[in-house]
Amino acid sequence: MPDRPYVIDEMISAKTIAARVEALAADITAHFADTDKLIVVGLLRGSFVFIADLVRELRLPVEVDFLEASSYGNSTQSSREVRILKDLRGEIEGRDVLVVEDIVDTGFTLSHVMHILQGRKPRRLEICALLDKPARREVPIKATWTGFEIPDEFVVGYGIDFAQRNRNLPYIGKVRFTQNAG
Ligand code: PRP
Repeated sequence: MPDRPYVIDEMISAKTIAARVEALAADITAHFADTDKLIVVGLLRGSFVFIADLVRELRLPVEVDFLEASSYGNSTQSSREVRILKDLRGEIEGRDVLVVEDIVDTGFTLSHVMHILQGRKPRRLEICALLDKPARREVPIKATWTGFEIPDEFVVGYGIDFAQRNRNLPYIGKVRFTQNAG
């Protein structure tokens, strides 16, 4: 599949993303205005660009931590397993936590991560996702803040990859294959 030729059409420009990140950060800052320190948790790897931009717009004391989860498709979609490959460095009990995700697709990754983090008894636990593809949802989960709702398209850029490439594009693009499969 990665060898199949494709082009990337811009879907959300860098300028549009920047304006939305600024607005999300203003809402998040207002929501956590009373916190002594917000722990912002990025889900690796896709969220690394978004979290870098988002934290720089937050007007709050923040600590940044990362967690890496990986999902494996089993025989059926509903039995999909999610494993933690890299856990948080810090404790979150009694703390205010914001999970930052690049995209919510089926919802398996985020629902599993949220279940684990909730078990650690944070004071508040919220989600900020840049992109949401509601048409693909298999597990009912919704981010507290969403940057953009998008249709069921194959997207890349701004941290999101296709076969580990294109994460460094400054915009969100749509993959368009220029040859038919097979
Ligand atoms: C992608 C994305 C989300 C997840 C969303 O991660 O970054 O974490 O899939 O899919 P879901 O809602 O269907 O679970 P991926 O496993 O591709 O890893 P990456 O972040 O390292 O690119």
